[in-house]
Amino acid sequence: MPTLRLGDAAPDFTADSSMGMINLYDYLGDGWGILFSHPADFTPVCTTELGTAAKFKDEFDKRNVKMLALSVDGAASHKEWIKDINEVQKTEVNFPIIADEDKKVSDLYDMIHPNADSTLTVRSVFIIAPDKTIKLMITYPASTGRNFNELLRVIDSLQLTAYHKVATPANWKNGEDVVISPAIATDDAKKIFTKGVEEIKPYLRMTPQPNL
Ligand code: BEZ
Repeated sequence: MPTLRLGDAAPDFTADSSMGMINLYDYLGDGWGILFSHPADFTPVCTTELGTAAKFKDEFDKRNVKMLALSVDGAASHKEWIKDINEVQKTEVNFPIIADEDKKVSDLYDMIHPNADSTLTVRSVFIIAPDKTIKLMITYPASTGRNFNELLRVIDSLQLTAYHKVATPANWKNGEDVVISPAIATDDAKKIFTKGVEEIKPYLRMTPQPNL
């Protein structure tokens, strides 16, 4: 199985889930996607993560990002677990959780890291663009819950840089100044970025976020 890298096509699959059979590409349609794996049902950190993910759904919707979780237990188990998540996290899990009992999807996405655990998936995250290419991969250990604000922040950056010749600096948040692509000469940048260009160094030019 080849290792997935950024820019690769996200492997398509059809699998059972807490909401019935799902085909990844049909589910994503023309939008963005976030696919994230959980080590197992009825585990404490995952319970907080899925509850938090549910509370963030409006934010993902605003960005046209479809959410899809995965764990290696079955759909019936997922449905029971979702009742617990809804109760303890005071929310409603409102996106599907793939039931990857045969580990078909986990294998496709290399979500099992045998030196960490030979049977459970680690906490992988994949962000998939509308062209179905993988734009981000993060792997957290099972013992560390994800930061969903960070995932939204990266999506904001990906969606901005997909349409404008800019990059986002360290700790950037939506609304803050951005870096002009090194491929653009400063004279050209001044014509393109009409809100202004600040040349800190010839290779470090900043401009207000162009899509606001
Ligand atoms: C958890 O989600 O709480 C968890 C799962 C596997 C190992 C450690 C923690």
